[in-house]
Amino acid sequence: HKDLIGIAPLAPWQILYLLDEAEQWVKLNRSPLKHNDALAGLTIINAFFENSTRTLLSFEIAGKRLGADVVNMHAATSSVKKGETLIDTATTLNAMRADAIVIRHASSGATQLIADKVACPVLNAGDGQHEHPTQALLDALTLRDWLRSGACPVAKEEFVGLKIVICGDIRHSRVARSNILLLTALGAEVRVCAPPALMPYDIERMRVTPFTDFNQAIDGVDVVMMLRIQMERMSGPFIPSAREYRHLFGLTPERLKLAAPHALVMHPGPMNRGVEIDSSVADMLERSAITRQVEMGVALRMACLDVLTRRVRGVEGWGAPL
Ligand code: CP
Repeated sequence: HKDLIGIAPLAPWQILYLLDEAEQWVKLNRSPLKHNDALAGLTIINAFFENSTRTLLSFEIAGKRLGADVVNMHAATSSVKKGETLIDTATTLNAMRADAIVIRHASSGATQLIADKVACPVLNAGDGQHEHPTQALLDALTLRDWLRSGACPVAKEEFVGLKIVICGDIRHSRVARSNILLLTALGAEVRVCAPPALMPYDIERMRVTPFTDFNQAIDGVDVVMMLRIQMERMSGPFIPSAREYRHLFGLTPERLKLAAPHALVMHPGPMNRGVEIDSSVADMLERSAITRQVEMGVALRMACLDVLTRRVRGVEGWGAPL
């Protein structure tokens, strides 16, 4: 693979390989100096056509901690606003001899379109309702760290048999899609919970158990992953009120009691506090992994940039033949 477009094309060993590679960067990031010159001399362009805090900043920090020159292109202040097409933008970035391009775009498939036009590796930082592979990978890194700490008495072979519920706007969520692909590939039992109008049309093909009742879906799970309602991707009559949504699908302290006593709470952010998750749950020090997910995001993106640019650097890629 030249690019990282999604979890779907990855074999389980490649997922685990990226998690293993990230471990060294978790250690580096916890040390005082936080610097390595693995990517010195490379130019990385972060081209973001949609808003972002976590993904953009963590890719920028990841590239800089590895010694690369990192440039951010924000669509709102670029020539995209003058009508330049996505392909012309990609060709322009390619002509600047970027060594890796990280792209976020509102259209599903935009990242693949650019990857097909440029010579360098392209990393998908979230494309429409398609995939957000680095989010699923950082979630898996967070989960594996938690499992290895011994806090979960259930999953014996790391992800195998781990019961996870993903609750929220599953239909519009690239985070849900990438996490479902990754977690099922590693042997977890995935439940998804959403109002009927926010359940994907192709849910039957996803190797998950769908629920529309959150109290049933959360019963006895080891991990509760909450997602935001994505108003920006919503069309049609279903616009739930925040109060109604919280009542039926919000993670409140009372509802969390229905999960296993050791259950971990995750959210990719940004959160709508008081809608899909109560502050008292999000901020629970002993149960919530939300800030740890952000920490793992930097290390995981360092691993992705390192692995994906190995061919550019003349270093053997992925550690084993594909
Ligand atoms: N989780 C995530 O993708 O957050 P941002 O939109 O802030 O990048």
